Amino acid sequence: MSHAHGTPSPVASRSGTPLKGRIRVPGDKSISHRSMIFGLLSIGETRVEGLLEGDDVLRTAEACRALGATITREAPGRWRIVGAGIGGLVEPKDVLDFGNAGTGSRLMMGVAGSHPITSTFDGDASLRKRPMRRILDPLTKMGVTVVSEAEGGRVPLTLRGPKETIPITYETPAASAQIKSAILLAGLNSPGRTTVIEREATRDHTERMLRHFGASVEVVPHGADGRAITLQGQPELRGTDIVVPTDPSSAAFPLVAALITPGSDVVIEGVMMNPLRTGLITTLIEMGASIERLNERDEGGETVADLRVRHSRLTGVTVPHARAPSMIDEYPILAVAASFAEGTTRMQGLHELRVKESDRLAAVAAGLAEAGVAHEIEGDDLLVHGSNGKVRGGGNPVATHLDHRIAMAFLVMGLATDQPMTVDDGAMIATSFPSFIPLMRELGATIQD
Ligand code: S3P
Repeated sequence: MSHAHGTPSPVASRSGTPLKGRIRVPGDKSISHRSMIFGLLSIGETRVEGLLEGDDVLRTAEACRALGATITREAPGRWRIVGAGIGGLVEPKDVLDFGNAGTGSRLMMGVAGSHPITSTFDGDASLRKRPMRRILDPLTKMGVTVVSEAEGGRVPLTLRGPKETIPITYETPAASAQIKSAILLAGLNSPGRTTVIEREATRDHTERMLRHFGASVEVVPHGADGRAITLQGQPELRGTDIVVPTDPSSAAFPLVAALITPGSDVVIEGVMMNPLRTGLITTLIEMGASIERLNERDEGGETVADLRVRHSRLTGVTVPHARAPSMIDEYPILAVAASFAEGTTRMQGLHELRVKESDRLAAVAAGLAEAGVAHEIEGDDLLVHGSNGKVRGGGNPVATHLDHRIAMAFLVMGLATDQPMTVDDGAMIATSFPSFIPLMRELGATIQD
């Protein structure tokens, strides 16, 4: 794998010509991880089209192999998985190394931890800092034993699962699709009904895919913004076909690049429009962005659209905390857009950003400081004082802290700043969007690595 321990490779971007053209970004990371996992847990063959072949997903594929799946890459993006089935997982011979992948590791704790095998999870320096208690607590209630863990409930950690898990009803302490998904996946090997209550609805790919593979899932509203999701345990999941829609969290980078680069007019094709993923688009439209949703259609059970994006004058807005789950990975790039807006953008309630691939609140603030953008952190809110299209840029290389989205966000910023922007390491971009630099260059961006 390209990342983890290599020497850092700085990347720089500078302003140049307007961005023009049509691109298609790779498959959705969330759905790609889940495609592998559901393939493993099914009986028979699953065929996946459009899989994101980023490092994170490849780690999940390796883990699925170690747990008993037969996985073949037939062509770029086209994969075949023959599953081991619920209850049929084998004990992995080695440590499951998830690299940088929070989603892969947390979901797989639910999968491997719910089986009567011993499995050890580890990852890179970023993953080793991330909190896993949020997963271990509910799994413990389901009968999973945490054999060992690094200080504070972190990887490396070892789980030993029961023969079957105990069905539970659990209210998640944070708005997190990863927590919800780990519990539901562990509930698959339970003889009863497992219910997850979330106070704020988060991305629903696990629920949708459970049904697609043949499980029975009930979803009812809970409170003002929440949901209660109930899974009937021990279904027989059947291998099936999956078409992975493109990742709105990756599309966010060329989208904001077009908005802030004068003269730009870009079409991003086939972007997944699941309403639990489109908070950034809602926000940018409120800010005055010219984003047209064209040719809406169904792809792989999700609505997708071609997005035509033109350079726009943006105005600062307040982004309510309630919108955070639908744009949780998009705050770094929103902060970039906000830097070019007129007036202040206040992003409320960003505490979850502190436990992403890096402390994203701190990393974004440090990058803004390098670029000369006025900003403040007030409690869990980030305020960005935009300078109406004119951002200095330059400064020292932005520290990316092994975080792909910090790297991409500040490279996008550099396409419209007066002075070029440099990020200290571009290697992690390969975790989620390996074709980021070539695709941006196709649109006319000047990025040097
Ligand atoms: C993801 C959930 C989110 C998101 C991550 C992918 C998923 O994490 O940040 O990139 O696929 O379930 P949280 O559940 O921690 O918010």
